[in-house]
Amino acid sequence: MIPLPEKILYKEGSFVINSKTQIFFDDELEEIVDFFIEFILNSTDKILERTSSKKDKECIIFEIDQTLSQLESEGYLLIVTIDFVRLTATSPHGIFNGLQSLRQLLPPECEKISFNKNTEWKIPCIKIEDKPRFKWRGVMLDVSRHYQEIKTIKHLLDLMGLMKMNVFHWHLTDDQGWRIDIKKYPKLTEKGSKRKDSKIVKHIGKKYRGKPHQGFYTREDILEIVRYAQERFITVIPEIEMPGHATAAIASHPELSCRKEILDVAIKPGIFSNIFCAGQEETFRFLEDVLEEVIFLFPSEIIHIGGDEVPKRRWKECSQCQRRMKNENIDEVQSLHHYFTDRIASFLKSKGIITMGWNEILHNKIDRNVIIHWWKMNKKQVMTHIQEGGNVVVSRFFRYYLDYNYIVTPLKKTYAFEPVPKDLDEKYYTNILGVEATIWTEWIPTIERLEWQVFPRLSAIAETGWSLRERRNYKDFRGRLSRFSKRLDFLGVQYAPLEEVDPSNWYRFWHLRNAFKWPKI
Ligand code: ACM
Ligand code: ZN
Repeated sequence: MIPLPEKILYKEGSFVINSKTQIFFDDELEEIVDFFIEFILNSTDKILERTSSKKDKECIIFEIDQTLSQLESEGYLLIVTIDFVRLTATSPHGIFNGLQSLRQLLPPECEKISFNKNTEWKIPCIKIEDKPRFKWRGVMLDVSRHYQEIKTIKHLLDLMGLMKMNVFHWHLTDDQGWRIDIKKYPKLTEKGSKRKDSKIVKHIGKKYRGKPHQGFYTREDILEIVRYAQERFITVIPEIEMPGHATAAIASHPELSCRKEILDVAIKPGIFSNIFCAGQEETFRFLEDVLEEVIFLFPSEIIHIGGDEVPKRRWKECSQCQRRMKNENIDEVQSLHHYFTDRIASFLKSKGIITMGWNEILHNKIDRNVIIHWWKMNKKQVMTHIQEGGNVVVSRFFRYYLDYNYIVTPLKKTYAFEPVPKDLDEKYYTNILGVEATIWTEWIPTIERLEWQVFPRLSAIAETGWSLRERRNYKDFRGRLSRFSKRLDFLGVQYAPLEEVDPSNWYRFWHLRNAFKWPKI
């Protein structure tokens, strides 16, 4: 089972699902039960009959029990005996999580629609009491560098649900494409969602793919994804990058930059000096308008505003930015970034939204309600943020960036990573909200490529997010991963071969120069 539950007690015997099996459940669990009935029907051809009276034989029971407070909001208690299966939790989310464990107790073949209808569908007798270590177990998907199809996103959400992950961070804008329809600014998608070409790395004789790339999500698409995620108890957190990584927005609206020059949407990755002008009011009006539409579309209480990799060259030479600094008593351009962040964060706060941003937004006077997304260095400032009451989500790049090659980041390196810093006082542990895998897609144009990069490493991150630190053991995880991978086979996931994800140190050393070479895409 992945992630590993907190407490498991194995018993003798098993519960067999057959045509007499009935299902009893609390009314509020109707949707989850529908999902389970359909799942069983698809794989076994058996229809679980609903019953309104709880039975102690041939019965599967799903119940909410508020007295089980030790399970907190996401935990569950699963008891399987020869006679019955009983899943209890304090909330539907807990039941959903428990159902994922129940699913993993069934043979992997059950993931395949209409597999072998003659197989006996047995669940081993067991008692599991389980809850997550961290409340934030996320995945970030970059859809700017390569637009990702709705079906790819849904597939990812399905797999996240299976591993009890609960945050989908949607990186919607960047230099290489603006991918969210904003009614007030149609040019953002008319121009900003299209680019003329895409760089391909390390291909002899050819540096660019030689064809345009485009795509964006309509309001309907977004509502569809949000709903699909909600059904899997996953919160969708949108990211609108600012003030850097804004070439696609500036290509659509040159007036938002310091030089007002006409640009193309970027066709290669990198860090670009054209960023939003912090001097003019138009920039803030634009961003607030965009954020208002984003708030309307996404039910999340948190919005990610990026804030990473902001070159300040343009701000230094811009008369409007310089005027702003003078008027606001700001003595260096670095602090103009702080002004920018604080202004957007207080706008979002006025709308009841919590701001999140990459760790470059940190400064001494930042509102400690802002959530810091820790991806690189900056440890001192991150620790100060925590000690002053701030919250942090951990995505350290050498461990959790799933676009990296397995030579650079083998599975065991991702698994071994402990997100809570060693020297953090225990009283601050809850300020580490959790972990997030990132899927940057500069070199990920297809679902096959995505699956190869993401699996099996995402399973390691899911386990770190869920399971107790002292229960984590790499050898044991590898054993469970073999079985879990059979499930992925039936789900059609093309993960990287398990014998290739932990290259030896010698192999890594000799191939390090190839580490950033990606296969043909
Ligand atoms: C980042 O990787 N630039 C957050
Ligand atoms: Zn400016």
